Amino acid sequence: MEEIRTIKQRFEIIGNDVKLNRAIEKAVQVAPTDFTVLITGESGVGKEIFPRIIHSFSTRKHAQYIAVNCGGIPEGTIDSELFGHEKGSFTGALSDRKGYFEVSDGGTIFLDEVGELPLSTQAKLLRVLEAGEFIRVGSSKVQKTNVRVIAATNVDLPTAVKNGKFREDLYYRINTIPISIPPLRERKDDISLLFRKFAADFAEKYRMPPIRLTEDAVQMLENYRWPGNVRELKNITEQISILSGKKCRCSDAKRIPSGSNQQSSGVNFDSGKRSQFCQRTGNPVQNTFRHEKRHERSETPRL
Ligand SMILES: Nc1ncnc2c1ncn2[C@@H]1O[C@H](COP(=O)(O)OP(=O)(O)OP(=O)(O)O)[C@@H](O)[C@H]1O
Ligand SMILES: [Mg+2]
Repeated sequence: MEEIRTIKQRFEIIGNDVKLNRAIEKAVQVAPTDFTVLITGESGVGKEIFPRIIHSFSTRKHAQYIAVNCGGIPEGTIDSELFGHEKGSFTGALSDRKGYFEVSDGGTIFLDEVGELPLSTQAKLLRVLEAGEFIRVGSSKVQKTNVRVIAATNVDLPTAVKNGKFREDLYYRINTIPISIPPLRERKDDISLLFRKFAADFAEKYRMPPIRLTEDAVQMLENYRWPGNVRELKNITEQISILSGKKCRCSDAKRIPSGSNQQSSGVNFDSGKRSQFCQRTGNPVQNTFRHEKRHERSETPRL
């Protein structure tokens, strides 16, 4: 197996967490098979990297890879998008159209937000998975396709099954190989690594010195709950990179108060004096970076 370090470099994955490494290993192990894989994890944990790893380590790597955001396609057009349609089958169907399952024959389809599929489409997906068969909208001709399906979801599918929103048979069918990506709060050691990488990227993008973290700030980040996971960390790093660069010239830099209340359920700062920006955004994490940045700025020559 290609070394996990090389895979991370290739796919720009940051982090050394054991569960993250295990998820990457599992993706590489199942890649050469045709098993359907279900990638689960909270919003923003990095699920979208995994189907690309699986496809690129599979024998299908030279064939099509199509990523479909099932949640982003209106219910009225999803069947046509996935399975194609015949000319005249509905208003606006001016010509025949191939669907993703036809186009990616021999390749891989990534069905992102699979829990959002309407029940009628779920039945059609089950047929593709069970028999490799589908029918274009408006046609009666059964067609064959050989597509490897990888699905992802940030919703709890067993609950969706209980609530009648997701077919049970489809759930068991797509859950053949589950890969679970841990939330950021469970891989605390990766937080500062990710921050450093994002800060360096944004520093390059916006041509300014990268923000660095003091011990206090690292502590605070590690205790924050990160409901939006890596996406949230990335967004916050970007906002701070931009806004600090333009506005951070205040001299009232304050370190994070040692009495900060950093519960795992969230951050509640009692920082006393806050900059206008921090009050405006009300984001405690930004607030801390704000202080951090100011602190750094006092040592770092300004551009
Ligand atoms: N380990 C990581 N290293 C570097 N970047 C990461 C990592 N994990 C996630 N990211 C980045 O975080 C952002 C969110 O990741 P992604 O879009 O894969 O989330 P997701 O799990 O699909 O979330 P959702 O369920 O909301 O769609 C992306 O910009 C991605 O590149
Ligand atoms: Mg996603």
